[in-house]
Amino acid sequence: MKQLVDKLFETNNLSSAEYKELIDNRTPELSEYLFEKARAVRIQNYRHDVYIRGLIEFTNYCKNDCYYCGIRKSNRKAERYRLTKEQILECCSVGYDLGFRTFVLQGGEDGYFTDEKIIDIISSIKAKYPDCAVTLSIGERSYESYKAFFDAGADRYLLRHETANAEHYGKLHPRSLSLGNRKQCLYNLKEIGYQVGCGFMVGSPFQTTDCLVEDLLFIKQLNPHMVGIGPFIPHHDTPFGDKKAGTVELTLFLLGIIRLMLPDVLLPATTALGTIHPKGRELGILAGANVVMPNLSPKSVRHKYMLYDNKICTGDEAAECLYCMKRRMESIGYRITISRGDHKSIR
Ligand code: 5AD
Ligand code: FES
Repeated sequence: MKQLVDKLFETNNLSSAEYKELIDNRTPELSEYLFEKARAVRIQNYRHDVYIRGLIEFTNYCKNDCYYCGIRKSNRKAERYRLTKEQILECCSVGYDLGFRTFVLQGGEDGYFTDEKIIDIISSIKAKYPDCAVTLSIGERSYESYKAFFDAGADRYLLRHETANAEHYGKLHPRSLSLGNRKQCLYNLKEIGYQVGCGFMVGSPFQTTDCLVEDLLFIKQLNPHMVGIGPFIPHHDTPFGDKKAGTVELTLFLLGIIRLMLPDVLLPATTALGTIHPKGRELGILAGANVVMPNLSPKSVRHKYMLYDNKICTGDEAAECLYCMKRRMESIGYRITISRGDHKSIR
């Protein structure tokens, strides 16, 4: 198996049969070997720098009904909220003073936030903080909407593909959503000129090794600037409330593989990874990740943006979260940097 890791390290590529073999035959020893290579590549490209993104969860209204997600429209128990533009700008102000130079506007698919409103928010942030990147994570919209947001100043867009296998996609989502449309959105975003992030949940219900292999091949083909992966974690008020969570072990292994596939990709150690293991984010960095996304949402709404059970950092102020993260990164020999943290191809 080590030869497969070596081959991936040298060529950034494996066949689907080889990915399958690697994943199915992984051992703790092989994982450690993979992580060493992944860290070497990561350090060569990004030294020991960890980029931070300030996450602003600005609405938990959602018109979709994904079976895994705690803010799905059928979850009548979710307490819904929207931040005003003023509240969003206040999050940016707090974040800027703490050293954040990327703001991620994340929300459910909320029809209240028309293109006009989103454009107004983007231009207000860019006018006040011209040295900052604005990342959108607001789901599927038309080409025209994406283009208008880009023209208003949005720099990046996160849209996880969730799974690259159409049949599996159908088991995670209602029929109104399709993998074809999801992929089209990602290609549209790339064409428009965004730095684009895709990604998937590890250990989502009905996921097989073949699904993971398809995820990896799709990621290689899309060649995104960012890839967000984290373990699936059940939310008790969803149809998947009694499904098993994904594991730290497999998530870390996939992070290592993705680092070798796309040597300079921006790869977050996600909140979900930090939720299923007390040192999950540190382990993610040590497996090849180079981004963390501390929460900048107002403390009063954090417990309402519950995508899954036991989400961490919901009781902490932005500053506390950042200092906690700084300590965590320093404890493993890495450092948080004050910068936009663009992909290497942009600078
Ligand atoms: N567990 C883990 N991740 C989840 N997401 C949504 N629900 C869950 C869950 N139960 C992820 C999805 C989505 C991102 C914002 O959060 O991948 O794209
Ligand atoms: Fe948020 Fe530790 S990173 S509290």
